[in-house]
Amino acid sequence: MYVNMKYILDNANRDGYAVMAVNSVNMEMARAVIEAAEELHSPIIVQFGVGQMSKLAHPDQMVPMIRAMAEKASVPVCLNLDHGPSLQAAVDAIQRGFTNVMIDASSLPYEENVKRSRIVADLAHASGISCEAELGHVGQAADGDGRTSDMYTNVEQAVDFVKQTGVDALAVAIGTAHGKYPAGYVPVLDFERLAELKAALKMPLVLHGGSGSGEENIRKAVAGGINKINVCTDAFHAAEKAMKAKWEAEPNTDYLNIMMVAEAAIKKFVKDYILLIGSNDRYTFEAADNGSKE
Ligand code: 13P
Repeated sequence: MYVNMKYILDNANRDGYAVMAVNSVNMEMARAVIEAAEELHSPIIVQFGVGQMSKLAHPDQMVPMIRAMAEKASVPVCLNLDHGPSLQAAVDAIQRGFTNVMIDASSLPYEENVKRSRIVADLAHASGISCEAELGHVGQAADGDGRTSDMYTNVEQAVDFVKQTGVDALAVAIGTAHGKYPAGYVPVLDFERLAELKAALKMPLVLHGGSGSGEENIRKAVAGGINKINVCTDAFHAAEKAMKAKWEAEPNTDYLNIMMVAEAAIKKFVKDYILLIGSNDRYTFEAADNGSKE
């Protein structure tokens, strides 16, 4: 089923779990991600940003392909524009058939963020899809962003922001950052801030920079009200590790086999993550069927 993100995240918010949003930059990744979700009866979000589209995930090919996979899938699948940087990027994604757009004006002054997010939310809603925006700023792990609370989401501002923009999901800054952290560093998340944000907003909240956060942090974030977790670096890494191991074990292995190894590794990574954040078994009647047989 090809659905918008609001549908997926409202259910997750109601029932207290989180859904993975995986940056999937080619057919193999998208297929691994969707198959993993199907096998675990989990909703899933496939996404990429404009940088990834300019390198590998060319939208002319990727969007129709993901849409076809999603329409055949037995679980809800959303295609999200990750970190839409401009109105043009958001409009382009809406016209191409994405089912959610994220507008990221989080590094601009507050009023400008409100203005841009409201325009994109309105356009998305008029087109029957949903919208995510970001308040506070989730920076780059390599720059040490996320370690100071200056960029964290302010609770009162968040309430005003959601009221003014009408966005369906809000990405919050509570201590994570995008990309690879320095070796051995595990981010310290501000769970108190998360609790305050959830209590005030009661809506789907998004954690960017999911990679390298550590299982304990991720579990606590979900328990604290995060409903969407963006993961890119760790998914790439799962594939890279498996490909390297294959090459080392079989130096003469070929392209076909290497690609299959990568796809299988991503699928396993996504399945493990789904089990960690509790979105499994949300789309099966099995429990009810077993119950009726007793
Ligand atoms: P990571 O690469 O740190 O997982 O971040 C992904 C992300 O937040 C995409 O929006």
